[in-house]
Amino acid sequence: MPLVLPATTWIEPGARRRAGDEAAALGRSRALLVTDDFIARSGVAAEIAGVLGAAGLAVAIFDGVEPDPTDAAVDEGRAALVSHEADVVVAVGGGSVLDAAKTIAVRGGNPGPLRQYMGYQQLQGAGLPVIAIPTTAGTGSEATRVVVITDTSTDTKMMLLDDRLCPTVALVDVELSATMPRPLTAHVGVDTLTHGIEAYVSAKATDETDPLAIACVQRCGLHLEAAWRDGDDLEARAGMARAAYEGGAAFANASVCLVHGMSRPLGAVFHVPHGLSNAVLLPAVTAFSLPGAPDRYAGVARALGLAYGEDDTDAAGQALLRGLEDLNRRLEVPRLRDLPGVDRATFDAALPKMAADALASGSPDRNPVVPAAEEIEELYRRAW
Ligand SMILES: NC(=O)c1ccc[n+]([C@@H]2O[C@H](COP(=O)([O-])OP(=O)(O)OC[C@H]3O[C@@H](n4cnc5c(N)ncnc54)[C@H](O)[C@@H]3O)[C@@H](O)[C@H]2O)c1
Ligand SMILES: [Fe+2]
Repeated sequence: MPLVLPATTWIEPGARRRAGDEAAALGRSRALLVTDDFIARSGVAAEIAGVLGAAGLAVAIFDGVEPDPTDAAVDEGRAALVSHEADVVVAVGGGSVLDAAKTIAVRGGNPGPLRQYMGYQQLQGAGLPVIAIPTTAGTGSEATRVVVITDTSTDTKMMLLDDRLCPTVALVDVELSATMPRPLTAHVGVDTLTHGIEAYVSAKATDETDPLAIACVQRCGLHLEAAWRDGDDLEARAGMARAAYEGGAAFANASVCLVHGMSRPLGAVFHVPHGLSNAVLLPAVTAFSLPGAPDRYAGVARALGLAYGEDDTDAAGQALLRGLEDLNRRLEVPRLRDLPGVDRATFDAALPKMAADALASGSPDRNPVVPAAEEIEELYRRAW
């Protein structure tokens, strides 16, 4: 299996200021800067537009992306791209903005209903190059050939994986993600950790993805809690920004598994942020999956610093289960039942659809233990 990654990656403080030079090096002259309202108001979008302008590019800004982007937002962004006659897309934001921008960039060569391109390698035409600048740490979308877009007609989160969705340039700049408040730091940080873990235990893990996955997990063990405790701890913030890239690079080439398979339907039905829905599921799903890959999970425990050389595989696995529960407690990740807008009756009624959508995504097939629909429903209940 090839390892598909951005052609160029910069991971350093201030990397965002390279956007102009990178766009010019690609021979581009008209940029559509895709972002959201928050980043636009923060001044970061204007700063990067300035950098692009200074490198000779004509810039238009589309700031209409909302969390968990929809097919409708993608089409709006596409219209902005056409009207500006853009030849490069610069994405500045969290995973939602990056995913929307990556999809906008391929829409020209793939104009059919987005649902048609769902799944693996379904795109037909090439797209424009994307320069991805993440502001969360994070989904790792800057490193992935994956997007998640909500289909507004069915309220499902569609996953598209295609080499043409991989950004051409990733600019990972710790100065952007350092402004995340505590809850966001926790949610996106556990998303990162989940990418590393799932890539490592996936049935599709390879010799190429393993080092990326383990580096991601190790860095989460070192830096996630520190970044959450003290947002000004730039070393921890930089560690998590790098971990996010590594986690994305690993999972997009090795697949995610059951946590992500179950997390997307939760997000679609209850509008729970992606990282949070992973976080609430991770302990229960890990307990379920452990018997399918005990050595791999022991490796995760060791990388997280939860187990040591002298611990046997079983002890390391048990330490991991305790460690993940503890991590959620320490990062103040709420239980599902404590979230506003999620009531038990609606949750119970939604279980069959969520389980069916989880299975349909294909991700559970890569899990160390492949679940049946009833087992998925039971795991949702355990996370309640
Ligand atoms: N493509 C992939 O590989 C991949 C992987 C995992 C998740 N995802 C998708 O990514 C989306 C989630 O992305 P996310 O978790 O990065 O959150 P997000 O992009 O939805 O952002 C959440 C909120 O945080 C704000 N925000 C962004 N940067 C900030 C900063 N530095 N400081 C303060 N606030 C900031 C945003 O404006 C937004 O309001 C979901 O749709 C999920 O399905 C994609
Ligand atoms: Fe994720």
